[in-house]
Amino acid sequence: MSTKLSITDLPDSEYKGKRVFVRVDFNVPIKDGNISEDYRIRQAIPTIDYLIEKGAKVIVASHLGRPKGRNIPGFSLKPVAERLNEILDIEVNFPGEVFSDKVRNAANNLNEGEVMLLENLRFHKEETDNDEEFAENLASLADIYVNDAFGTCHRAHASTYGMAKYFDKRLAGFVISKELEFLGALLQNPDRPYLVIVGGAKIKDKINALKNLLETADKVLIGGCVAYTFLAAKGVKVGKSLVEKEMIPWAKEALKNYSDKIELPIDHVVADSVENSRVMMVVDREIPEDLMGFDIGPKTVSNFNSHIKGNGTVFWNGPMGLFEMNDFSNGTSSIARSVALATWRGATTVVGGGDSTSALRRAEVLISEIKHVSTGGGASLEFLGGDELPGISVLSDK
Ligand code: 3PG
Repeated sequence: MSTKLSITDLPDSEYKGKRVFVRVDFNVPIKDGNISEDYRIRQAIPTIDYLIEKGAKVIVASHLGRPKGRNIPGFSLKPVAERLNEILDIEVNFPGEVFSDKVRNAANNLNEGEVMLLENLRFHKEETDNDEEFAENLASLADIYVNDAFGTCHRAHASTYGMAKYFDKRLAGFVISKELEFLGALLQNPDRPYLVIVGGAKIKDKINALKNLLETADKVLIGGCVAYTFLAAKGVKVGKSLVEKEMIPWAKEALKNYSDKIELPIDHVVADSVENSRVMMVVDREIPEDLMGFDIGPKTVSNFNSHIKGNGTVFWNGPMGLFEMNDFSNGTSSIARSVALATWRGATTVVGGGDSTSALRRAEVLISEIKHVSTGGGASLEFLGGDELPGISVLSDK
């Protein structure tokens, strides 16, 4: 259980008529004004609903993308405000600015149960700089501080870190509480057997998490590009596949220390390049010199699937291949379906990482078929690496 003070720890009377600042992570993919994936928005709804119901005046704030301190229309949170209107079924006030007299007046004039969404915090570089004055200005808008932006908790920015100190009570919203419950259990006391599936592009991005996962898990299945570095470390020929040469010594050591835990691909879907996937074929064990691996092969899928059955906990991070392309999506989709089946069989299944929701959608697996789909990409990996996230550390203890 989380040791951080949650929004449910405060008596209802404390919220009535109070301005509550809620930092959420609405960093969602938007193209031509259309939101293609709103999982992070829907995840934040229970916290906003809870505060509305308690009679709070709710001031919601988020970043979107990395506009680097510039006011770029394509990075506006306006489409998110419209989506929030639809979901909450109330008129969300969107002043189109982050901090100004207009914003302050709007915040002060909110009625109980009303919601306002600030413009993209990163339109001001003071946000990512964790600027003192900017943090104080944001804090002056509200009486109570809530952080529900788990996906951004690894950033010590003004809204996730700097402004918190101006409040007596710094509360975790439901997203953060749920993430701490599930990811915390993976670190401390997973139901066993505990199986981990790791894929994705790079070992370097997840090295600390990998170290911890190898230590804690009972079995670790490795696919994606991460596998080619491990195979290269084992002396298996991987052709032109992407290998992180500088990680080979570490992979060799990991293979030595955890030889009984690690499972690597035994066949591969290969092609000569992404552009020319017409020459796609399946090869056993070694990859010919002029070809690259883009997905795990059918024998590996079946071996991995057999390991996914019968576990107490299954944690999956990172695709098995270039799943965005049909030719190379079979491995990732098969793993997604097996993880969903593991949920039905009673395992605690957790899926994390930036690509998770699109990989699940592509495999036609419902989010509800997974016990917990983390909203965090980098944040969940840093958390699983054992790092204390700044956005969590500033919250009040129970
Ligand atoms: C994410 O999408 O991982 C978070 O919103 C954090 O975004 P950032 O990496 O741009 O800080």
